[in-house]
Amino acid sequence: MRAGDSMSEKVKLIYGSHEYSYPVVTGTENEKGVDISSLRKDSGFVTMDYGYLNTGSTKSSITFIDGEKGILRYRGYNIEDLAEKASFPETAWLLIYGELPTDEQLTAFRRLLTENALVHENLQSFFRAMPPSAHPMGILCSIMNAIGLFTPRFYDDENKADAFGLMVASLISKIRTVAAFAYKASIGEPFVYPDAEKSYCANFLNMMFSSKARNYEVDPLLVKALNALLIVHADHEQNCSTSTVRMVGSSHANLYASICAGICALWGPLHGGANQAALETLLQIQQSGIPLRDVMERAKDKKDSFKLSGFGHRVYKSYDPRAKVLKNLMQELFNHSHFSDPLLDIAFELEQLALSDEYFKERNLYPNVDFYSGILYRAMGIPANMLTVMFAIGRLPGWIAHWKEMHDDPSSKINRPRQIYTGPAERAWIPLNNR
Ligand code: CMC
Repeated sequence: MRAGDSMSEKVKLIYGSHEYSYPVVTGTENEKGVDISSLRKDSGFVTMDYGYLNTGSTKSSITFIDGEKGILRYRGYNIEDLAEKASFPETAWLLIYGELPTDEQLTAFRRLLTENALVHENLQSFFRAMPPSAHPMGILCSIMNAIGLFTPRFYDDENKADAFGLMVASLISKIRTVAAFAYKASIGEPFVYPDAEKSYCANFLNMMFSSKARNYEVDPLLVKALNALLIVHADHEQNCSTSTVRMVGSSHANLYASICAGICALWGPLHGGANQAALETLLQIQQSGIPLRDVMERAKDKKDSFKLSGFGHRVYKSYDPRAKVLKNLMQELFNHSHFSDPLLDIAFELEQLALSDEYFKERNLYPNVDFYSGILYRAMGIPANMLTVMFAIGRLPGWIAHWKEMHDDPSSKINRPRQIYTGPAERAWIPLNNR
């Protein structure tokens, strides 16, 4: 029996004199689900599960998370190994195609990334037309959708393996160019074009920070940090933005449209936008000198909507393994180089306070991936409003992998949840002069 097949074990549902039984589905790591696909047909019931806390929307072979033990694996490989040993393009390939690439596959993929790094010159006016104050996530989403319009043949050819492979490389390569151009447009500097001699991460840093007016040498330590950052963000199973990509893609919307929907979902401060919010909280603490205990009290105050961004997670009830990787990386970067940041001490102190606080302990609120990523990005010179864009660059291979998995699955259906209607019962029309 394969993982994910229904087993002979059943779960019974008893309502009045009726008894219904539903098969248990077991995953590779022995996680269990109940397949209630025929529940409504059998009984007339639908399930209610606000925020999908208990709903498995699909079987997936891409990413495994054990939130209690703090485990994260892509296609079976531990995140710690990937962050230390793999490159981001290699990880993207693994997620999308299911296995680590061979030497030949990786060379061909890198070549495609290099050849597809440019965006159409007509798009330059698009960047210039955006208000300088526009949030880079809004720009990213608009331009990634527009890029699809320049290659409409992909909409028809996405089922052909070659065209799909080209589209994947084009998206993963161009998102980095778009992000760097959006930043350059926001500071009013000329765009720096991709350099065919540079690696994925070095190329990005070069497009962001080099200019004719200043010498910029890409620092290998920062390239290493960026590579690891992108890898730890690359997938996280059925999170909000990935579920959005799958939701939109389930209507057979093209990959570009599905991904743009994912970018919008990621933007929210409860999801990818938390990295910007977390960094801004640390900056405010530094600038205003507000005592950390006051910040903690605010976060715990139910009358205050403020939450400590970078803490808590729907799935992790122990330390987020991505945060652990980033914390180690940060210590390595700051111990063995000229980098320093006063926010680091504030972050460490805040973490210690949170980990020893009863409210945080009772609710299993640990630092998540967004708590330390901002400090690492700051070391590169990346500003707070670009942090969620960085998350999107990292998450893109995961979105593509999930879109492909759903697309390739002959049993997938358009996603269409049910509801329980709570509005008025049928009533008679009231003419305007009687209202
Ligand atoms: N600060 C203060 N209280 C918190 C926090 C926080 N960061 N996170 C959760 N809580 C409280 C929450 O108020 C609730 O308390 P109570 O049980 O008394 O009502 C309890 O902890 C459970 O939280 P929840 O909001 O019901 O949990 P959730 O699974 O619905 O939400 C979350 C998860 C990540 C949205 C939430 O922890 C949060 O808002 N964190 C801050 C934003 C953040 O860092 N998001 C990034 C998540 S990691 C990147 C990603 O994958 O998106």
